[in-house]
Amino acid sequence: MSGADRILILGGTGEGIALASALTSLPGRRVISSLAGRVANPKLPPGEVRIGGFGGVEGLAAYLRENKIRAVIDATHPFARRMGWNAAAASQTTNTPLLRFERPAWMPQPGDHWIDVADWDEAVNVLRGKARRVFLALGRQELAPFTALKDIAFVIRAVDAPDADLAFADAEIVLARGPFKLADERVLLQSRGIDHLVCKNSGGDATDAKLQAARELGVTVIMQRRPPRPDVPKVSDVQAAVDWVRSL
Ligand SMILES: NC(=O)c1ccc[n+]([C@@H]2O[C@H](COP(=O)([O-])OP(=O)(O)OC[C@H]3O[C@@H](n4cnc5c(N)ncnc54)[C@H](OP(=O)(O)O)[C@@H]3O)[C@@H](O)[C@H]2O)c1
Repeated sequence: MSGADRILILGGTGEGIALASALTSLPGRRVISSLAGRVANPKLPPGEVRIGGFGGVEGLAAYLRENKIRAVIDATHPFARRMGWNAAAASQTTNTPLLRFERPAWMPQPGDHWIDVADWDEAVNVLRGKARRVFLALGRQELAPFTALKDIAFVIRAVDAPDADLAFADAEIVLARGPFKLADERVLLQSRGIDHLVCKNSGGDATDAKLQAARELGVTVIMQRRPPRPDVPKVSDVQAAVDWVRSL
């Protein structure tokens, strides 16, 4: 292998793919994208890809040293609660520059009816006794708290099929991967008579059509706010991240 600077992208997001595409064309850089391995058939970024956890902060620090990583870009999902903290700690112990690449959060628009929640237990309490037909647009590993709501008919959208043992009283599963179009989101919400939509404040334009459809149809949105992140340099567009790599 050449002596190119190795840039590690912590991915699993559309941003991670966009960034890998942009950086693979930079001369003198070799891009390695890292995925957690949660999705059965992940969309793969261009360039080199490694899959699976590192083994905590120590595992990541060892990986950075052994592979002589020049810099790390944390492009994990805003709701990936652990990885950003691990990256910050490993970058500090190995003295490896770290950049956070994060899409801006969605903000409510005129006509929106959003209820902010910290977690899904709070969302369950908001829905109880109030909602009848609820669209859950969240990860398949996050569904369990909602099974407590036996009087609600759920429509669940996920990339991979949820665990068949989940004890929902009434649930329709829609398997799909974004991006989603406004016209389709409208049809989905309208045809199922949805009154509440539950989602995370992921940001970005691949999955925001559901919010516009909810606005138009007067559907209440239960929005989980983002978890805290470590205080590291941050950018929100590909060009700024490319400029940062160039400046190393
Ligand atoms: N959470 C979401 O809502 C969401 C949505 C869309 C995509 N994703 C993507 O799915 C992945 C996992 O999400 P999560 O919520 O489980 O994250 P997390 O809570 O931050 O991470 C849990 C553990 O998974 C491993 N991991 C996470 N991201 C990794 C990566 N890019 N490469 C290698 N290992 C990784 C790490 O294991 P070790 O400690 O063993 O290194 C980490 O400690 C992330 O890459 C994220 O970008 C998450």
